[in-house]
Amino acid sequence: MAKVMVLDHPLIKHKISILRNKDTGTGEFRSLVSEIAMLMCYEATRDLPTENVEITTPIAKTSQPMLAGKKLAVVPILRAGLGMVNGITELIPLSKIGHIGLARDEKTHEPHAYFSKLPEDIDQRLVILPDPMLATGGSAIQAVDYLKAKGCKKIKFLCIIAAPEGLEALEAAHPDIDIYVGALDEKLNENAYIVPGLGDAGDRIFGTL
Ligand code: PRP
Ligand code: URA
Repeated sequence: MAKVMVLDHPLIKHKISILRNKDTGTGEFRSLVSEIAMLMCYEATRDLPTENVEITTPIAKTSQPMLAGKKLAVVPILRAGLGMVNGITELIPLSKIGHIGLARDEKTHEPHAYFSKLPEDIDQRLVILPDPMLATGGSAIQAVDYLKAKGCKKIKFLCIIAAPEGLEALEAAHPDIDIYVGALDEKLNENAYIVPGLGDAGDRIFGTL
């Protein structure tokens, strides 16, 4: 089965609680999404391989660990995933960035693809796939389908809030990916919004409410 990690860190919990508040404004919301993404990325990169490299300090020559040659790509699911990109690339500035544009149909809740652009060598890269919300799971499943069709072998999906329904669906569809969740909520409502959730992540990040 997929490796699922619900991040249990007081800083992440605190920041997500502020996100949930309907009175949190766009500027603060955007900053928090970026900060949470950075904290989640710290956890998600815990298993990156390192190799020893010769370094000369002002005092001595030494052999010290640095990230091994593995290449990374950050591929946000548009729009809301964009809000998580800066926090991630601040930690791993050498990552390339791709984009997958998906919009959920308001009635059917099915995702519709409208854009994609990936680094040419995406099949050689470890892909970090951020999207703040995992609701029915349709968007994440479609994004992973697409990445796998492009040859991606190692994918880490990062979401700030997940519904149990979406998590179950994503795990079942893609048991070989790693899934990092900031908070696992109660359920979906009749409009397939996460309860209690935070509302529409894209609208709150971009101020399009
Ligand atoms: C939201 C969210 C996810 C998707 C989750 O995006 O950012 O991509 O819905 O729902 P699902 O798990 O049921 O597929 P939305 O389609 O609203 O687009 P946006 O980011 O442009 O607002
Ligand atoms: N998309 C969102 O932005 N929020 C939800 O609760 C569900 C889907």
